[in-house]
Amino acid sequence: MTQPLWGGRTGGGGLDPEVWDFLRADDTELLPYDLEGTRIHAERLAEAGFLTADELAEITARLATITAADLEPGDEDVHSAIERLLGDVGRKVHAGRSRNDQVVTAFRLYVFAAAREADEELAILAKAVLARAEAEAATPMPAYTHLQRAIGVTLGHHLLAWAEMLERDRARFAFASARASQSPLGAGAVAGSTLPLPAPENPMRNSMDAVADRDFALDYLYATAVLFTHLSRIGEELILWTTSEFGFAKLPENAATGSSMMPQKLNADVAELARGKAGTAIGRLTGLLATVKSLPLAYNRDLQEDKPPVFAARGEVRGALRALAVLVSGLEFDRERLAAACADPGLRATDAAELLVKDGVPFRDAHEQVAASVRAGTFEPPPAVPFAESRHIDVAAAVAAAKKRWGA
Ligand code: ARG
Repeated sequence: MTQPLWGGRTGGGGLDPEVWDFLRADDTELLPYDLEGTRIHAERLAEAGFLTADELAEITARLATITAADLEPGDEDVHSAIERLLGDVGRKVHAGRSRNDQVVTAFRLYVFAAAREADEELAILAKAVLARAEAEAATPMPAYTHLQRAIGVTLGHHLLAWAEMLERDRARFAFASARASQSPLGAGAVAGSTLPLPAPENPMRNSMDAVADRDFALDYLYATAVLFTHLSRIGEELILWTTSEFGFAKLPENAATGSSMMPQKLNADVAELARGKAGTAIGRLTGLLATVKSLPLAYNRDLQEDKPPVFAARGEVRGALRALAVLVSGLEFDRERLAAACADPGLRATDAAELLVKDGVPFRDAHEQVAASVRAGTFEPPPAVPFAESRHIDVAAAVAAAKKRWGA
């Protein structure tokens, strides 16, 4: 085993292997971000005269060559590995910093990138949804409340509601990336350092907060938990719509699964898995909240638990959004089934009651009058309400505006 960074304190005799394995961080994914954070720190050291221009050049060049393949089981974490891999010149690079500000600097760079990436992945699904909404702008379908047919809308109107959810997700990821963009560099272990280093860009104000704060990771996990909650609702509708009972759409064969036993089956596993992963996404958020809860200031090793849920979330966001985009793009809507589901005259009962209101009848009386005719089976649906008088969305205009916001 290589000497840990703090080996000078424990005499270098080495930890028991069981203890070592327990302490080691699962942080390989952080490596590129820690290389970047280390490069930024080295520049600060050079600016303050603690590294020569040649030393800075050597460090920068070496950092650019380090990859995950260079990591060894003897490294406690990526921070230790980088220092080892920098060789002799690496012995100077830790001046004025601690792994406490180093790890959170790298982690913030990671979360910033993950939140930005989520925006790009969201756009893939949002654009797929908008394209379908545009094509189904005039396709009638029933709107549901309590999963009972309620009133006629268009499929475009319904799909645009999905797009609204995704747009709010976008705002949540933007918030998370903005929070992550602050720099804790210079906070050191907990109270800065006596070395006169230049302040980083967008510095945090309080060194104790800088090394202890993980709100930015919680913000990101919250954004992913809400996103997956939306994907579970969208997924649930896709599952319902593609059942024989609803029959509103057929699954595309490139995004559906078969049964190992029943040859006729085509299953909506993609939508089900997106729905299922919402539970795990919520678990990652509650897990990190519980880790951070009650921690005294400032850094505690508990905080090493912050990274695996965020690493996992990033991959899940990418995977789910892309797979659902394929599914949504390939759905085959059954416009006849959708129209048939709207044929129920009851879907016009609210319009009938409102027609009476327009004639001066109190709404409650109008409601009772229409309800009585529905019960008696004598209800006559009124002529369709002109579009301008309805609360229905202008799908074409809404799609055009949304496309602009998504840069489509
Ligand atoms: N691997 C640690 C983490 O992920 C790095 C910081 C360790 N700091 C310390 N004082 N032991 O949090």
